[in-house]
Amino acid sequence: MRGIMNQANRKRIVLGITGGIAAYKAAELARLLIKQHIDVQVVMTDAACHFITPTTMQGLSGKPVYTDQWDASVPNNMAHINLSRAADAIVIAPASADFIAKLAHGLADDLLSALCLARACPLIVAPAMNREMWLNAATQRNVAQLIDDGVKVLGPDSGVQACGEEGMGRMLEAAQLAQDISAFLNNITLSPAPLPASEERESAQQPIKKMQGVKIIVTAGPTYEAIDTVRGITNRSSGKMGYAVAQAALELGAQVILISGPTALAKPKGAQSIDVTSAGQMFDAVKQHLAGCDIFIGVAAVADYRVAQPSQQKLKKSANPLTLELVPNPDILAYVAAQTNPPFCVGFAAESENLAEYAEQKRRAKKLHRQRRQRTGTVRRQRQADPAARRQAHAGQTIDAAHRATL
Ligand SMILES: Cc1cc2nc3c(=O)[nH]c(=O)nc-3n(C[C@H](O)[C@H](O)[C@H](O)COP(=O)(O)O)c2cc1C
Repeated sequence: MRGIMNQANRKRIVLGITGGIAAYKAAELARLLIKQHIDVQVVMTDAACHFITPTTMQGLSGKPVYTDQWDASVPNNMAHINLSRAADAIVIAPASADFIAKLAHGLADDLLSALCLARACPLIVAPAMNREMWLNAATQRNVAQLIDDGVKVLGPDSGVQACGEEGMGRMLEAAQLAQDISAFLNNITLSPAPLPASEERESAQQPIKKMQGVKIIVTAGPTYEAIDTVRGITNRSSGKMGYAVAQAALELGAQVILISGPTALAKPKGAQSIDVTSAGQMFDAVKQHLAGCDIFIGVAAVADYRVAQPSQQKLKKSANPLTLELVPNPDILAYVAAQTNPPFCVGFAAESENLAEYAEQKRRAKKLHRQRRQRTGTVRRQRQADPAARRQAHAGQTIDAAHRATL
């Protein structure tokens, strides 16, 4: 009887494997999930079978692997419907660029894509591809579309790739994925009563509010340091990345305090927004709200210096050179990270050169838990057809990584 109950309580996933080098990691992922008592049903694309065999996956999962939508051994010949009805989630790992594109556009020309389109459960994807494939505007658009559609995107990570290049696009390690998938499945609360069919589909695809009860402070935008009553020193930060990070956290149910320098952006709905002008005001606002903060994300481009003696009147123009004395501003991130029980601290490093080296130096100097890098200047921007999609994907990854690290 106990055995039957345990069997009934087991979580069930469909593990979809697509055609990429990281397919070999799917074997380890299946093994780790099964070890956590999760039932794994494997479905593979044709391309995936070039990288790892269905035989290996059958051996590990203890079940026949589905690869063909025309498989006549399925009694009603409708594996694309049946499989997701019995699953708590579909996990695509690795998710190829091609498969992500198919998902984003609702294509269904093979078993796995048809299964995803016909699903009645959440969908999780773990992208894995070459860095240029990942950075390609088309992929970024597609990933942003998936996030918009409520699909959970795990990773990718950056590092050395199978092709020898280095950058974003590596699939998360199997252990990390297993942990995330398990956390995701355990957060799913079953509806107390069956919902009407229309609502049922909508609710099955809702992103899970897994950050409920988590307090996050995000700083965003530039600061403005007055020279006199009308002039000041500022920078070109738009605030868009900080706002996207705040939005991503809100979507996961976090309590978000957004402390923002002057921007022209609409405030994310649901955030507690605090507008400041100078670095000093931003510092005061951070100190005021720091108690109970779980995650601190410093995206603001805080001015390193301010004018020692701003003039209380507008300075008059003269033919003589003007010398301004600048004094350093407080380092807000370093202050937060140096607290006795600091929140998980994430910094953003914007550099025009030596990005990796300078960002790492900054991370160590400020004792941050994590640092995200951004290249400044125009070259990168011109290559991005859709920087908004890329920003959204980065914001989601930032929040996701910070949350995972605090679990
Ligand atoms: C050796 C080799 C390695 C590949 N690695 C990847 C990869 O890591 N990620 C990716 O998105 N595509 C990769 N591709 C391309 C995909 O296999 C190709 O786009 C395929 O059509 C994907 O099919 P699927 O999405 O139906 O699985 C690779 C191709 C080859 C030949």
